[in-house]
Amino acid sequence: MYKLIDGKKISQEIKDELKVKVSDLKAQGKNICLAVIQVGNDPASSVYVGNKKKACAYIGIESLAYELPEETSQEELLALVKKLNEDDKVNGILVQLQLPKHIDEEMVIQTIAPEKDVDGFNEKNVGALCVGSKGYVSCTPLGIIQLLKRSGVEIEGKNCVVIGRSNIVGKPMSLLLLRENGTVTICHSRTQNIKEITKQADILVVAVGKPKFVDESFVKEGAVVIDVGIHRNENNKLCGDVDFDRVAPHTSAITPVPGGVGPMTIAMLMSNCVSSVE
Ligand code: GUN
Repeated sequence: MYKLIDGKKISQEIKDELKVKVSDLKAQGKNICLAVIQVGNDPASSVYVGNKKKACAYIGIESLAYELPEETSQEELLALVKKLNEDDKVNGILVQLQLPKHIDEEMVIQTIAPEKDVDGFNEKNVGALCVGSKGYVSCTPLGIIQLLKRSGVEIEGKNCVVIGRSNIVGKPMSLLLLRENGTVTICHSRTQNIKEITKQADILVVAVGKPKFVDESFVKEGAVVIDVGIHRNENNKLCGDVDFDRVAPHTSAITPVPGGVGPMTIAMLMSNCVSSVE
């Protein structure tokens, strides 16, 4: 029988730990303030932003919401980011992605001051992760490491396979698993004989962005499977990149969708905000 890795429960534990830390910091006169910027009103982004604001309120972090219209120019957005970079009251800045097509996402990310880049997307923070020095790390992969550790999954010496090489998940995930002394392989859209590789995995992290991409033929018996995807299927039900019903019986532990990786991303964002002050 497999173990269900409960991201909802683990993220709640983390948020409760952070709440105590924030209250201690407040007693020392230290406030935490996160600025959240959304451009346009993509419904999925609005849900994410809403959840981030709710988590801030729960933990005791002040959040400043900037809801900008779709037609906001790149110059206007960059000017706001620069203003927040200079604002001593603001500890963290988050620009919700995706941005409208007329805005250069990379330019915006690189404009956020590295010491306020609680998403960990800035080159300086990615470079720090790469060389093993201190810096902010992207929240989703950071949350996955917490899921594994708090579920008692050992990473050291294990074959870890990551499917997907995005800057937000796949690349930082691989570096974090390496930092935990895993033996790491990255698969992507050009990988040949992908199943031969994924079948070697003791820990398989799937971040491809395709509903039910991974079935049981990708998975070694007894592997730990982490599903980063979130999609709506033909019946409007949420599903992941992994075909849960077919894969779960072959695993020793697996994350569900929803209630697996998703809630961890927000918990780790809160954790990054707290460390911005600590
Ligand atoms: N869009 C999807 N995931 C993320 C994330 O982790 N941070 C931001 N800023 N935008 C996102």
